[in-house]
Amino acid sequence: MAESMKGLKRTHRCGELSAANAGEAVTVMGWVQKQRNKGGLIFVDLRDRTGILQVIFEEKDCGQENFEKAEKLRSEFVIAVTGRVERRTGAEDKKAVNENLATGEIEIRAAQVRVLSEAETPPFPVEAESKTKEELRLKYRYLDLRRPDLQKNLILRSGIVAAIRTFLTKEGFLEIETPILNKSTPEGARDYLVPSRVHPGTFYALPQSPQIFKQLLMCSGYDRYFQIAKCFRDEDLRADRQPEFTQVDLEMSFVDVDDVIDATERMVAAVCKEAIGLEVALPIVRMTWDEAMNRFGSDKPDTRFGMELTDVSEVVKNCGFAVFTGALEAGGSVRGINVKGQAEMPRKKIDALVEFAKGYGAKGLAYLCVLPDGSYKSSFAKFMTEDELKTLVEAMSGEPGDLLLFAADRLKIVWAVLGALRVELAKQLGLIDSNQFNFLWVTEFPQFEWSDEEERYVAMHHPFTMPMEEDLELLETEPGRVRAKAYDIVLNGVELGGGSVRIFQSDVQERMFEALGFTKEKAHEQFGFLLDAFRYGVPPHAGLAIGLDRFVMLLVKAENIREVIAFPKVKDASCLMSEAPNTVDDKQLEELHLRITE
Ligand code: AMO
Ligand code: AMP
Repeated sequence: MAESMKGLKRTHRCGELSAANAGEAVTVMGWVQKQRNKGGLIFVDLRDRTGILQVIFEEKDCGQENFEKAEKLRSEFVIAVTGRVERRTGAEDKKAVNENLATGEIEIRAAQVRVLSEAETPPFPVEAESKTKEELRLKYRYLDLRRPDLQKNLILRSGIVAAIRTFLTKEGFLEIETPILNKSTPEGARDYLVPSRVHPGTFYALPQSPQIFKQLLMCSGYDRYFQIAKCFRDEDLRADRQPEFTQVDLEMSFVDVDDVIDATERMVAAVCKEAIGLEVALPIVRMTWDEAMNRFGSDKPDTRFGMELTDVSEVVKNCGFAVFTGALEAGGSVRGINVKGQAEMPRKKIDALVEFAKGYGAKGLAYLCVLPDGSYKSSFAKFMTEDELKTLVEAMSGEPGDLLLFAADRLKIVWAVLGALRVELAKQLGLIDSNQFNFLWVTEFPQFEWSDEEERYVAMHHPFTMPMEEDLELLETEPGRVRAKAYDIVLNGVELGGGSVRIFQSDVQERMFEALGFTKEKAHEQFGFLLDAFRYGVPPHAGLAIGLDRFVMLLVKAENIREVIAFPKVKDASCLMSEAPNTVDDKQLEELHLRITE
């Protein structure tokens, strides 16, 4: 039977008490982690979000009625205990002290207990480092969220948001909300749609980002804006993606690339310091997109380890191996990575790497092992002369004991394959120091990316991104070579955030839409209000958005973004707890003028 709190007031949270409180009368409330009955003594571990506290019941202190209540306590009961803080008996001889608990030096000697809520046996134990399957944990997320690891993550997340607000407010940013019920935004993923009841046959789109609205706010003179913004994207989920996620979104007026980078990296450094005591060395290293791709095969390189790519196209262009020369003749490239000390990797493992490479579009993966005695074992040595092989090994700085891997293909594929292999091998070989936090800016992204699917250029960032001044003249002639004033911030191989300087001149914007294959009508239909706004005086402006969930995930070293989101969705974008998405009543459909066809 549940009792009430009437007449009782909590004096402390469990984890807030220490030896300094010895002798004080306190009232604590929380969940029973564990109850142990040792005959005349009952021990209860009491838990709240601050930690665990040991409570001791003895009939001589609490009387028969309370003792009997304590006997009946089970895990996850919610109770209130009044008692006295004591140093653990025998604390002097250290034995009784529990060094695993922050409150390990003390216990509460209970005078009174109230059972505020009883609990059924939970479907899995509420404990740190749970071995319970994630599906079950997600179905009972409200219990999962009681576990200290998730509580730690969400508490840190709250601290990070607070630090961000403090920093940006101090820097003159205004926090302004933008609408969720929206028109389609230009981030390139699929929209989530909301049917309108009042306007039959029309839909709102949930924002993929506040992009257009924040640019309008610059137009309206707000100078510096930020928002902790919910964004929605209907895309395939991965370990670092959710259909709804949160951005730290910001925009600044009268600025250029350096100003946004400077403000952002100072914010990131302040947050890292505040949240996990990490000193981020400023300024953060910058690398152009070209350099990142050529050295690491990725626009979000993990720089915690080496194994950089080497271009051997020149070295092999006249060799006897048709796979290499064929790729070069077709306009492609041949590049390799040197996996130090792995020449004796078993054939089976190398075959698995070949299969891995194929997953990234490779037709194959050529390998050459420089054996300790200097001889070669290779999938292509028979097609090359001794001299050709020697030159190739030299070009790769290959030494006895090294494994050399090569991809020959269109450059885009070579980069994708070797970039992914590099990371995979570093993981397999344990080359990554998980205590290192390597931040990096990648700048000068290409303005456009060719889409094989749509057979046209698409914006790599979004259509409002400003090209670099020196490349403007290539917009019509060689769009593939135009670089953008766009930048990404990368942490340990994950894209943490990205942004750009925006186009604010209507002639440049028109040329951009043209290059993207938008007709004037189409551009106006989609973004007319932004283009109109720009006719009435617009400041040069630029901004960026950081993925908050990813930021927290990396700072707490979680494997998956779900570990830092209270109520996340699974791979198929459903919620195992609430069972969203779900069907609705016919009446609701009718009101919305919708009919289900399937
Ligand atoms: P962008 O599309 O690069 O830029 O998004 C910015 C950051 O948001 C995070 N992010 C995600 N996080 C979790 N799940 C997802 N599905 C997801 N998608 C993106 C990433 C990413 O770097 N409006 C521009 C910003 C600007 O130009 O100012 C934008 O949205 O960490
Ligand atoms: P093949 O002559 O097709 O048996 O290929 C010989 C070797 O070259 C094998 O190890 C293949 O995996 C490898 N290979 C095939 N195509 C490519 C490619 N595009 N890039 C790199 N290696 C390749």
